Amino acid sequence: MTDTTRADAAPGELAANRERIAARIVGRERELELTLAAVAAGRDILLEGPPGTSKTTMLTAITEEWGIPLLFVEGNADLTPAKLVGHHNPARVLKEDYSADNFVAGPLVEAMREGGFLYIEEFNRAPEDTLNTLLTAMADRSIAVPRVGRIAAKPTFRVIASMNPYDNVGTTRLSTSVHDRLNRLAIDYQDAPSEEAIVRLRAGGHARGALGERLVVDAVAVTRATRSHPEVRQGSSVRGAIDCVLVASKLAELRDLRSPEQEGYPQLVLDAMVVSLSGRIHLDEAIETTPERVLREIWEDHFILEPATAAPG
Ligand SMILES: Nc1ncnc2c1ncn2[C@@H]1O[C@H](COP(=O)(O)OP(=O)(O)OP(=O)(O)O)[C@@H](O)[C@H]1O
Ligand SMILES: [Mg+2]
Repeated sequence: MTDTTRADAAPGELAANRERIAARIVGRERELELTLAAVAAGRDILLEGPPGTSKTTMLTAITEEWGIPLLFVEGNADLTPAKLVGHHNPARVLKEDYSADNFVAGPLVEAMREGGFLYIEEFNRAPEDTLNTLLTAMADRSIAVPRVGRIAAKPTFRVIASMNPYDNVGTTRLSTSVHDRLNRLAIDYQDAPSEEAIVRLRAGGHARGALGERLVVDAVAVTRATRSHPEVRQGSSVRGAIDCVLVASKLAELRDLRSPEQEGYPQLVLDAMVVSLSGRIHLDEAIETTPERVLREIWEDHFILEPATAAPG
């Protein structure tokens, strides 16, 4: 990858770039194409989607293909402008006074110097003065650091922000002036076949054989059901399905269960669901129930009321 913005890449180069990046990701052709178009155009972007919807996976694939660093920062009330930009080492300042040499770069300056992507998760939780520092750096593509001077960003520097649309605790409502400075892409959950493919990829050998294959289909189905259950505010991401398969596979070993046709199979899935999903579903506060009760209902729907949907294929 050349050290320029992708806006001036040779014709066809960007499409080839996309093909190589896509090879590392399950599905997500449209989201990848749109995100790539934005960053190749030299622009910054906000990715808005619930947890586990491929945001980090896509950014990792793009930055690896481009050969540039991906720096993570979590947006929260403690993310001050100084944490983002950097600070002077106090011990050295006492001995040597302030200098560019004893400045410890924060992730923003590091990303600018190295031409990396600065990925700010939960962007809407960052304090307003931090957002302002960031917006200035994005607009100027350089930053003035007191006693260090002006630091210019390399051409591949980008700011990628993310936020969870369901998140409403401790968040700042982004002002229209912030929104006006960002591109945005909403990302939702993938379809069942894609989620099954992701789980197969991440669960490796545990997803193989008659038992493994059936576990993947059932784990994805019950995980998806947590997202539409009426008492759940936010259901589990595909991470819950991955863990469900891994835990169920070990339970099967402990219980000497080798086939999904065996009598103990539905109970095995329920037990794995409790471990892998109960902490990942967030209930509607107004409703008196427990994650375990909700999971049992989902399990009954899947295995008892509609056994047809539990059949493979
Ligand atoms: N399209 C995909 N292809 C391959 N693996 C994926 C894909 N989407 C998600 N995964 C897998 O699912 C898990 C979560 O994905 P990822 O970390 O990309 O989500 P995220 O959107 O960054 O979530 P969060 O908002 O919680 O940080 C990872 O284990 C990842 O490997
Ligand atoms: Mg992530």
